[in-house]
Amino acid sequence: MVTSSAPGKVYLFGEHAVVYGEPAVPCAIERRARVTAEEIDEGLVVHADDLQLDGFTVEYVGDDTDHPDVDAENSLVEAATGYVNEAVAQVRDAADAPDAGFEIWIESDIPLGAGLGSSAGVACAAIDAGCRELGVELPRAEIADRAYQVEAAVQDGEASRADTFCSAMGGAVRVEGDDCRRLEGVGNLPFVIGYDGGAGDTGELVAGVRELREEYDFAADTVEAIGDIVREGESVLGTEDTETLGELMDFNHGLLGALGVSSRSLDTMVWAARDAGAMGAKLTGAGGGGCVVALDETDAALTALKYTPGCDEAFRAALDTEGVRAE
Ligand code: PMV
Repeated sequence: MVTSSAPGKVYLFGEHAVVYGEPAVPCAIERRARVTAEEIDEGLVVHADDLQLDGFTVEYVGDDTDHPDVDAENSLVEAATGYVNEAVAQVRDAADAPDAGFEIWIESDIPLGAGLGSSAGVACAAIDAGCRELGVELPRAEIADRAYQVEAAVQDGEASRADTFCSAMGGAVRVEGDDCRRLEGVGNLPFVIGYDGGAGDTGELVAGVRELREEYDFAADTVEAIGDIVREGESVLGTEDTETLGELMDFNHGLLGALGVSSRSLDTMVWAARDAGAMGAKLTGAGGGGCVVALDETDAALTALKYTPGCDEAFRAALDTEGVRAE
């Protein structure tokens, strides 16, 4: 029996624009998904009753999402089981063991579907644990690539490499199309995260931006302007200039709002953090609901978020530098 874990992430800059070939900078955070894998004679048994999702106490047995234990009304449950199925397919392929059976346990302290890369964490940890259980140790870059294949399969091709590369490698990374690399020399950033307890529908939000971009040149320009923010942000990342980083985060949030992917609760949390003196704050991930990330060296933004109506949970998250690892 082997356990592996992989971190979640926040987007410092660039979500949505990354879908159109602009660069993005996600940063891995010290909140992890843990997957335990044990080889069994055949088939797949998944226990995922500890995920942070209301009412998700599924013990899913079998390879198919039509199984009666899977509540088909709940698309997040379907998606979570889909990620495990696809990850196990990658393990069987990587280890050249097409008939390997597994019992899998998933635990995660990354809120699901909230812009913190929970599915990428589960995919990376599941691939690493499954492979190690079969005696195969994959390089991190291969785990990143295989986890990307998992997300692409579950999300009908609508996935960038950002989440999976970041979760596998750890640290701050830069993703532009298929070109993914780790940004060296980035020290800890004082991330504070606010979570409204909800989740946005990534597919719908991505489709909404796509439509706006096709309809209006200024929406296409907005996407390009987000790319400019990322390029500007990269030049100050790794320096002492967190003030400029914060300013660019604020700018990035404004442009995401213009593209229609923020929400009242996300805006409220962003303003609560800024009013408390955060250097900058923005939504992270697809938007529509979920999480915001602020930069704050004091505990003022953290305390303010805790008392902000609509903020379910607020926490600090250090930059993770390890990526996927065996526990
Ligand atoms: O909400 P998340 O963490 O899945 O991030 C989605 C980020 C998008 O840029 C909107 C889509 C993508 O696949 O890059």
